[in-house]
This record gives sequence, structure tokens and C-alpha cells, in this order.
Amino acid sequence: MAAVTERFQQLFVVWIVLSITSSVAVDRNNFKTCSQSSFCKRQRNVKPGSSPYRALLNSLELTEKNIKVQLINEVNKVPLLLEIYGLEGNMTRIKITELNPLKPRYEVPDVLIQDPPTLPLAVTGRDDNSIELALSQTDHRLIITSKPFRLDIMAGNELVLSVNSRGLLVFEHLRQRKDTFSDKISSTVGSMWDRIKSLFSSESKQENSESEAEKPEDGNSEQLDAAEKVDEAEPEKNEKDEDTENGMWEETFKTHRDSKPNGPTSISLDFSLPGFENVYGIPEHADNLKLKTTDNGDPYRLYNLDVFQYELYNPMSLYGAVPLMLAHNAQRTLGIFWLNSAETWVDISSNTAGKTVFGKMLDYVQGSKEAPQTDVRWISESGIIDVFILLGPKSTNVFHQYASLTGTQALPPLFTIGYHQCRWNYNDQEDVRNVDAGLDDHDIPCDVIWLDIEHTDGKRYFTWDPNKFPKPQDMLQELEAKKRKMVTIVDPHIKVDSGYKIYNEIRSHDLYTKSKDGNDYEGWCWPGNAGYPDFTNPEMRSLWAKMFAYDQYEGSRENLYTWNDMNEPSVFNGPEVTMHKDVVHNGGWENRDVHNLYGYYVQMATAEGQVLRSGGKERPFVLTRAFFAGSQRYGAVWTGDNAAEWDHLKISIPMCLSLGLAGISFCGADVGGFFKTPSTELLVRWYQMGAYHPFFRAHAHLDTPRREPWLFGEENTKLIRSVVRERYALLPFWYTLFYNAYRTGVPVMRPLWVEFPADVTTFAIDNEFMLGNALLVHPVAEEGSRGVTAYLPGTGEVWYDVRSFQKYIAPQQLYIPVTMSSVPVFQRGGTIIPRKNRVRRSSSCMINDPYTLYVALSSQNTADGELYEDDGHSFNFQTKKEYIHRKFTFINNILTSSNADNSSHFTTKAWLEKVVVMGAQKPSKVHIQMKDGSTSEVEYEFDAATSILTLRKPAVNIASDWTILLR
Ligand code: NOJ
Repeated sequence: MAAVTERFQQLFVVWIVLSITSSVAVDRNNFKTCSQSSFCKRQRNVKPGSSPYRALLNSLELTEKNIKVQLINEVNKVPLLLEIYGLEGNMTRIKITELNPLKPRYEVPDVLIQDPPTLPLAVTGRDDNSIELALSQTDHRLIITSKPFRLDIMAGNELVLSVNSRGLLVFEHLRQRKDTFSDKISSTVGSMWDRIKSLFSSESKQENSESEAEKPEDGNSEQLDAAEKVDEAEPEKNEKDEDTENGMWEETFKTHRDSKPNGPTSISLDFSLPGFENVYGIPEHADNLKLKTTDNGDPYRLYNLDVFQYELYNPMSLYGAVPLMLAHNAQRTLGIFWLNSAETWVDISSNTAGKTVFGKMLDYVQGSKEAPQTDVRWISESGIIDVFILLGPKSTNVFHQYASLTGTQALPPLFTIGYHQCRWNYNDQEDVRNVDAGLDDHDIPCDVIWLDIEHTDGKRYFTWDPNKFPKPQDMLQELEAKKRKMVTIVDPHIKVDSGYKIYNEIRSHDLYTKSKDGNDYEGWCWPGNAGYPDFTNPEMRSLWAKMFAYDQYEGSRENLYTWNDMNEPSVFNGPEVTMHKDVVHNGGWENRDVHNLYGYYVQMATAEGQVLRSGGKERPFVLTRAFFAGSQRYGAVWTGDNAAEWDHLKISIPMCLSLGLAGISFCGADVGGFFKTPSTELLVRWYQMGAYHPFFRAHAHLDTPRREPWLFGEENTKLIRSVVRERYALLPFWYTLFYNAYRTGVPVMRPLWVEFPADVTTFAIDNEFMLGNALLVHPVAEEGSRGVTAYLPGTGEVWYDVRSFQKYIAPQQLYIPVTMSSVPVFQRGGTIIPRKNRVRRSSSCMINDPYTLYVALSSQNTADGELYEDDGHSFNFQTKKEYIHRKFTFINNILTSSNADNSSHFTTKAWLEKVVVMGAQKPSKVHIQMKDGSTSEVEYEFDAATSILTLRKPAVNIASDWTILLR
């Protein structure tokens, strides 16, 4: 019998693999729309209007940390508690929960890096219907209006943001289920009937229930009054039926029944943003950078899911969720961080949506009174309302503010920002050896070779297939000799197999998630039947972390790192290909409450394991598919199973930009596209794109033909080689950007508007992007392209084509004719970029190599830039301040290198071999002067045609202080 089940499972998995491979687009039926998600539907049925809530101003309590005010729903009389905090760094936190809940409601732990430091609030004004509070240290005030309840945040006399001004605060309080006659019947025959019902009628039932009028439970406007009247007439029967119909106490989707032991628990709140037309963030969606209004479709959904063959330009959920939205206009940027890990939907509407530019101009000319405004509504299935308003006012302030809450991007080990060679799968040790040699034979630098699930012994993670990978240590040592690393995949589903050490260990500690009947929850994934460890439990995370110890993970070595996949978690036979919502986690919380945190915790535990195995010394590297707010602290994210299509190439820009805005800088998309086979042209263009994305990894589906970069003829190998080598030459620049992301939270890859906040033309651009403040990249992403039009922003700014050094004055739409070797990249005048032009096999081979500085002069003949360098792998930069951080400035024809951080110390053999000055004039002499006053002459060349001045061999150590004088 067991063998039959096993065989059946294997067939099921094969079927899944085949359906993944053969389907052409996402099967939308597998995933809920808002109207199929009962709480979303209930909430969306509440229309804007007068809020039933009143703030009881007399209940106001001013504490050291916050102010507390009770809110009452005047219809159902359920009281809520509002807490408002003034936070250091120009932020406000608003918490709303039940005053007397039947039991605790979930509050997201482990995401905030600290209890955010508060500032005392002061009451500065009061009348019968409102209270005014000063948010300290700024000119911001917060006004609480009692009836109808709303909050307004003012900066001086300007209204920045209103809360509940559209009356969409809805709080489904915890309640007892009414014990009706039908309940008693259903508890006797219930489970059987439910199974039959769900098997035969789930879809038709959903259709039916959609057509029925919904009645909001928590009392907003007339809809609620109507519902109350019905209840009065036939109290119990109607109420119970309505509850079931509205999905309050149970819900079915396809064949899956969601028992809802706690009943309805959803929450929602609206925010109005006067003066804003552009909102961004809330990854992960395969959509444009600038978010769209959702009036005519579904809201953007945040619910971590394994979406096979995801479709582009729609608000469906993907693998990860960061509930942070940014709003930007020419004057200010602000953020809304909705700290909730349950399924969440975000509606966006705007009074200018759909207006043409002409329409807007007409408004302007006619002096139309209506200012642009964006309204957003957040809806979550459970938990509490806990929202942070990040008041900017600049985008850099918002990045710092968000980083002060959830942490910054972990500084990645240097090798991780090199090139990664992956596919599903490299078949055996010989294959790995050949790929490694192929890279060298074709002079293509690479730092890491990856192994997907087939390297394991029957999809048992932490093991090796004994036939294909009999000597993993030898393989790793061979790679080490080349200064290369390896990554193996470690997924969180654990094969149910009493002969599997990992399975037994987790079971013996009783650390699997539980299904609602109290047994270990099991679902199907790559290995067949699998258990899902409860990563929300710190004990489980610590057990997992220990599994990476060298003596536990047999065959592992120091140069082996980890890839966490399928951690949404993916459950092939679960609802929406994920875990059932009524699965129980540590503390009795349901997956419903913690769902979006699961992948976050998997990556956290894995990163902790890598740190632990090195005795706390080495920085980890973990790539994750699922993520949440704060995942930036644990490694890198990729955009999952994209396809070898031109539109997927294009969407990789906004997808990574949105992640960067939400704190996760270390992002990349599978180069070449995961599903399907790219044309050679697409593959080459994808390398050209990927070389300028923070995480640069080629990957391919099991069933696609091999596509290592040298398989497409010498010409194409050359094209790919050249961009991979360009990536390596720029590693010092990338590493410095990552250091700054780590220090400040400012993204590595940035939308243009972050650098040019007042340039409205940039607000919707997502076919080009900035790296730091210095490089503008406009990759070619159209098939058969003969030219692209790049927008060069900034009034009076100058830009230099990095290949030809041709200078352009901005702003302008620049048409650039392209060939297959073209990757339009421009260096911004006023910046200095460090490079290492002697490219070698891997980043570790280049550690001591000399630097070249590229100085691009602004229209005022000035420039500045930075360089960060450390040992590239350990925590010594944190614990011992072992790094160099140089600042370079060019002003008055003098280029100076000074220490940007006097507390740091690090010695390096790397020296300065060349300086290239763009936009220069010919000097008559060039000298270099050292700190001790000694000077020497520097050789130079000047090209009058391009205005390029090249200084040869200043030959100073890069960590020293020096000055180069042009006379
Ligand atoms: C799904 C991942 O997204 C993909 O990258 C990987 O190759 C397969 N799982 C197999 O592990």
C-alpha cells in the first residue's frame, strides 16, 4: 500500500512538473480574485461614506510613549483602541485594535529591528470635535477628529495625509459563533457533508455567492443598517446563513475548505494623499513601477504564492510581500508601512487617473480647483492595524525611516555580486567540472556555480545524490582552487521518510506545523509527501541553523552557500498552491495570521545557520524566493519563474526597482528567462540587462536546452563575455553602492525620480534606471531593436556615454542607434566611479588589483565619489571597523582622496593605476602630492576630440591620502 501511495505521489509530482513545463500562461483559476476571497469581497463592498466610528476624546490618555483614545463603532458598539506614537526620525505610528478582544490578535514579531524610539507628543489644541497634537522635532501636527473619526497629518498649513477620511475603517471584531440548530446538525454530519459539498459544488457556490448582495458586518453606512434590519426580523437563522454565505466562518476555494475557527477577523483602513499622483512599492507584482489605480479590477494582492508562469502587468500576488508604499510628487516623498503578515489587498484610486496630459493642462489653464489626490485602502485578513507613516520629506529620508524600522540590506560578501551560473540542473560532478572549465576557456568570469534540486538524494535537502555527486567535498575543493563558490538549494518542505535524518530530527522535536486536527501538516512538493517545519518557532529556526554545521551537512565546506526556494511555502496540493490557512503554528497562530512571514523566517534561519557554522565570523549568502519586510537583512531575492520572453526581460526593471524602494536592494531576475528557450538575441540582451542588476544569475528550467554562454557561436560568446567582464570591472562601484545601502537604506538600483525628484518626466519611467547616483542604464529590451530613446534627466546636468565619452546636456530624449553590442550607459557629470579594469576569473582573484577612477565633470567642473573596500567576506568590517572608505573630490582642478571614515582601518595592496577625467581641459602639468608633502609629476594624455584627460600611474596606494593637481 505504501509503495502504491509513493508511486502515486511520484506521478503527481511528474504531472506537476509537466504542467509547469507545458502550460503557456498562469492558470488564473488556481488563484483567488478579490471576490473569491471572502474578506476582500466583504470589505470592498463597504463603500466610501461617513465612518460609523467616533473617537471618544474624553478617553484620551497621554502616556510617555503615546496617546491612547478609544473609538466606538456607533452601530455595533464595539470599542477599539487607537494608539498614536510620534517616532524619532519624522515618523508616526498608528495602531488600532479591539479594546477588549475575546482573545489576543496577532501582532507581527521579529520584523522591526527594535522598539522604535518614541518622542513625547503634546496636545496643542482642542475643541468639542477635535484634538491637535504636535509631532515633536518637526513642524508636523496631527489632528484627531472625533465624529466621524479621522486623522489628518499637517506639515505647517499643508495637509499631507488623512486617515479614514473616506470612512473605510472596518474592524471585524472577534466573536462567538452563534450556536444555531443548523450548527448542531452540521457538527454531527458536518465534516462529511463539507467534503462532499466542496468536492462537487465549490465553484458553482462561489459563482452564486458572488451574485448575492453582501452585507458589511461591522457597520459602515446604510448597508450596515439594512443588514441590521434583516437580523432583527429573523435573528439567528439569517445571521448564521449570512455568516456562511459571506465566508465569515468557513470558505471554500476549489476543493479546499478553510475552516475559520475564529470567524471573521479582517481589518481595513483608508489613506488619502492630497497632491500625490504617483505611488510605488508594495512588491511583489509583475507590473510597472508606477502603480495603477485599481477601480476597474482587483486590488494589488500581497499573499506569498508560487504562481506558475506568472502573467505580466497585473496585480496578482507573487512569491513575496513587502507592505510598504511610497508616494512621490515634486515636493515630497512619503511612505505608508502596513505591518501585517496576513493576506492583504491594496486598492488605489485617484481623481486624475485616466485624465490625459491635455486634460490636466486644461484643468491647469482653467484654474480647476480640484487638486490631484490618490486614495489607498489597505485590507488584511487578520491581525491588527499597525501602520507607520514615514513623513520624508525626501525620498532619502523615507529610505532611512524605513531602514530604521526594518533594517538595511545586509552587506553581501563580495563574491555574491559577481556572476552566477545556474540551471536546473547541473547533472553531476563531471558536468560541474566542465561548466567551470568552459567559463575559463571562454574567458568569462564567474564566482558561483549552482546546484538545483536534482543534486540531492531524492529531494532530501542537506544530502547529495550518491551516484551523481559522490564526492561533494572534492568538487567544492576544486572550485575553491579556482576561487569559486557553490550554492546548493535547500527548500523548506521535508520529505516524510522515517529513514531521513532531517525529517526525524524535526519530528522528534515536534516542530512541524500542524493541521487543524493537531497532526503534523503534510503536503505535496518535489519529494512527494512532505512536512513543513514551523519556522515561526525560534526553536525550529535554531534547529535548522544547526543543520548547516560542517559536521551536520555532510559534504559541505566553507565555499558552499544556500538557495531557499518554494518557501511561500509552495504546497502543490494546497489551496492556491500553498498552505491551508487553518494550519496551526507556534503559539496557536494560524497560517492565516503569519502566512507572509514564512519565507522570511526560512531565510533568516538559513542565514543564521551559515553564520553559526563559521563561529560568527563569515557573512552568509542566502537567496530566497519568498520574502517580507525586513528580508533585506538576510540576503538576496530573485523574481522567480519568469519566461524567456521580451516582456519578461522588460518587467525585470520595475520588479527590481519596486523591491529596492521597499528596502530589498539585492534583487535580480533569471537571466535568459526560466521557462522556455530564449532566442540568441534575447539571451544576449538579457545578459546585457542582468549585468546591471544587483543580483546577476543565469538560470534555466530543467527541460530547456543547455544555454551556457559559449554555446551560441563566437560572436555571441564575445558579446556576453564583454558585458560579464564589464560587470567585474565595475565591482568596486557595486560594492560601494551596497555598502551605502547597508549604511543608509538607500537602494542600489533606483528609479530616476529618486535622483531627480522634481523632474516630473521621470515619475513613470521604468525602462531605464540609475545605479547609485552616478550611472544611468537604458538596456535594449526590444526584439530587433535598431535604436532606443533614453531620457537624460536633470536641468543643466551633463551625461557622458561610458563607451564613447560623448557628452550630452540634459534634459533631453536622446535617440541612440544600437547594434547587438550596445548597452546604453551614461555616467552623470559630477560623479567619480572606481573600477578595476584587469578582469579575472572571479572577484576573489581581483582583490589586490589596481583601481582606475573615472571622473565625470559637471558643468561646474566638479565631481565627487566614494570607494568602499574590505576583506570581502567576514564581519570584521562591523566588529573591528576593518575597511577603507575613501572620498574623492574634484574641484578647482584638484582631485583629492581623503578618508571618509576616520574610525576605520584596513590595509590593502590595491593601488591607483589610472585616472580618466571626462569633460577636462588640457593641463600643462600634473602633480601628485602625498600627505607628507612630497610631490611627483604624473604622466598624462589629453584627447582634444573627446576632452578626455588620462593620468597614468599615479601609483599610490588606494587607501592613502593624496592630491592630484592639474595646472
Ligand atoms: C522553482 C524555482 O523558482 C526554480 O528557480 C527552480 O529551478 C525550481 N523550483 C526547481 O527547484
